[in-house]
Amino acid sequence: ISKLGVLTSGGDAPGMNPCIRAVVRTAIYNGISVVGIRQGYKGLIENDMFEMGTRSVSNILNLGGTILKTARCMEFHTVEGREKAYKNLKDHDIDALVVIGGDGTFTGALKFSQQFPDVRVMGIPGTIDNDLYGSTYTLGFDTATNTVIDAIDKIRDTADSHDRLFFIEVMGRDSGAIALRAGIACGAEGILLPEKATAIDELIELLKKGEFNKKSSSIVIVAEGDKSGNIYDLAKKVKQQISNYDIKVTVLGHLQRGGAPSSFDRILGSRLGYAAVNALMSGHTQEMVGLEANVIKTTPIEEALTGHKFKLEDDLLQMVDVLSI
Ligand code: F6P
Repeated sequence: ISKLGVLTSGGDAPGMNPCIRAVVRTAIYNGISVVGIRQGYKGLIENDMFEMGTRSVSNILNLGGTILKTARCMEFHTVEGREKAYKNLKDHDIDALVVIGGDGTFTGALKFSQQFPDVRVMGIPGTIDNDLYGSTYTLGFDTATNTVIDAIDKIRDTADSHDRLFFIEVMGRDSGAIALRAGIACGAEGILLPEKATAIDELIELLKKGEFNKKSSSIVIVAEGDKSGNIYDLAKKVKQQISNYDIKVTVLGHLQRGGAPSSFDRILGSRLGYAAVNALMSGHTQEMVGLEANVIKTTPIEEALTGHKFKLEDDLLQMVDVLSI
C-alpha cells in the first residue's frame, strides 16, 4: 500500500486519539502517506480530507474525543453513497482504509469492501459499549467505566447521607458491559441489563431485604437498553412498594463518552493502531484487529459483527447478589 486513509465513525470513545496517532506514525515510519478523513463516512462522501504528517498527531495521546471528528452517516448505507466515497478515495490515490468505530462503522466497512475489494480495509474496535467479537476490550470502555464509577461514588455519598435509593442510568443501548462492571466496582444492590430480563418483583424483594438489613442507601444501575421500560416509571413503581427510602433517578448521559483516556485505553489504542497498519501492509483486508488474552489478533469483520457480542458473565452477576447483602 502507498497511501492510507484513516477515519473515526459512530460514537466517539476515549482512546481514539492515541489510536489515530499510532496509525499515522506507523504508516509514515513505513513510507506510507496518510490522509485524515473528517467526520467518518460523511467526510469520505463529501471529500473532506487532508494530508497528515507526524506532527499532525503531536500531543493528542491525552485527549478525549477524536481530532478527526465523527458522525453517523446514513448515506454510506446506500450503494450510491459508497460509490461517491470510492471515487473520492481513488482521486486521492488512497488504496487502504483504517476505520475506528463500533458495529455501525464495521457494517459500513464490510459493505464498502465487498463492493470495492481493491481498497484494503482494516477495522479497529472503538466504542465504549464493549460489544464486538474478537477483542476482549474495545477502545473507550475502560475510561467510560472509570468515569461512571467516579460519578456513582459521588452519588453514593449523597445516597448514604440521606438514606436514599438511587436508580442510575448508564450507557449501553444493546450492551450491559458498563453497567455490570460499574455495578460490581461500586457495590450496586441491583444491576439491570439489556441482555437479561429483570423480574421487578425480585428487585423489589431484594431492596426490601436491604432496608430490613438496615442498609443506609441502595443503588440500582440500569443500562440504557434494559427492557423494563423508562427508568423514571421504574422508580415510581418501586416507590409504591418501598416507602422508607426517598427514591431519586440520575441519568449519566454523554459525560460517559468524554474525558482523557485511561492508561489502558492509551496503550490499547496505540497497540491496535500499530497492529492495523502492519496487518494492512502484510495483505490483510476486511478484518478487525483486536486484543485477546493480551495477544493482538485479527478477526474477519463479518465475524466481529455476528459472533457473540458482549458475553454476559453470569458469575459476575451472581457475585453481585452475594456481595451486596
Ligand atoms: O457509543 C455508544 C453509545 O454510547 C450507546 O451506548 C448509546 O446508546 C449511543 O452511543 C448514544 O449515542 P448518540 O447519542 O451519540 O447517538
